[in-house]
Amino acid sequence: MKPDDFSFLAQLVRRRSGLVLRANKAQFIEGRLTSVLRRFGFRTMSALIHELRHGRETLARAVAEAMTTNESSFFRDRAVFDRFRDVVLPQLLERRKDSKRLRIWSAACAAGQEAYSIAMLLHDHKLVAKGWTVDLIATDISSEIIARAEGGLYTHYEVQRGLAIRRLVAHFTQDGGNWRVHENLRRMVSFRTFNLLDSFGWLDDLDVVFCRNVLLYFDQKTKSSVLEKVADTLVPDGVLVLGHTETPLTPANAFVPVDGTSHIYRHAKAAVQRLAATG
Ligand SMILES: C[S@@+](CC[C@H](N)C(=O)[O-])C[C@H]1O[C@@H](n2cnc3c(N)ncnc32)[C@H](O)[C@@H]1O
Repeated sequence: MKPDDFSFLAQLVRRRSGLVLRANKAQFIEGRLTSVLRRFGFRTMSALIHELRHGRETLARAVAEAMTTNESSFFRDRAVFDRFRDVVLPQLLERRKDSKRLRIWSAACAAGQEAYSIAMLLHDHKLVAKGWTVDLIATDISSEIIARAEGGLYTHYEVQRGLAIRRLVAHFTQDGGNWRVHENLRRMVSFRTFNLLDSFGWLDDLDVVFCRNVLLYFDQKTKSSVLEKVADTLVPDGVLVLGHTETPLTPANAFVPVDGTSHIYRHAKAAVQRLAATG
């Protein structure tokens, strides 16, 4: 790819999705674009870039989506999910026992493994039967991956990664060589296409935000801006869960770690309120 084609492409992708493309990954990026090339009937990369320069919206969207990494697995980073199940969720349920309302968002949910993992933990508590209103929202920039997540169909390899046999048996049915999430679990999750660069206006009063393994693809400015918006959507004692290589360094005062190692953060507003309350 010619250097000025690469920088045009990198700018387009950064503007649309926040993802930073590095010049030393040009070959890898061309590989990612081959499916777009085929789908839109281009013979060469230059023809595709030429058309992109003329602002074809569906093509630009497909290119930005093709650059995303949709890698995920059930109960990814097991220690984080254990901590969430054993400490964070029970505390949250105790604090919400009067309102009986819980709102959780899996931002950048890829093919839905994260959202269904959360749904399984909520299911363990039989919240719906106990009269709770539970909103479990899951979003991703890629409409293709959201369609997959809604279908809840996973390969044998995918269910083998991170899912205990007892959970596979309890929540999945075999479908040909694949496994499909039971409908009751699928109904617990509202999937929707959403770009983290857009306004979070429709998201509010969230108790927990899982925003894992997506911030690492953004530059510092985009990461800060997304984290600021996340902070605004959380209730004062809300919780943010990040990926194991991610930190909420900016904005510096919005989040404080729940403990040293779990990558789970509490909204700093709650810490400030606790200090004020204790005088
Ligand atoms: C590596 S996956 C992480 C999936 C899951 N959160 C996990 O930790 O296993 C990253 C996801 O972020 C999504 N993504 C990338 N840029 C995005 C953006 N600007 N808005 C929303 N989602 C985005 C990608 O489509 C991809 O599915």
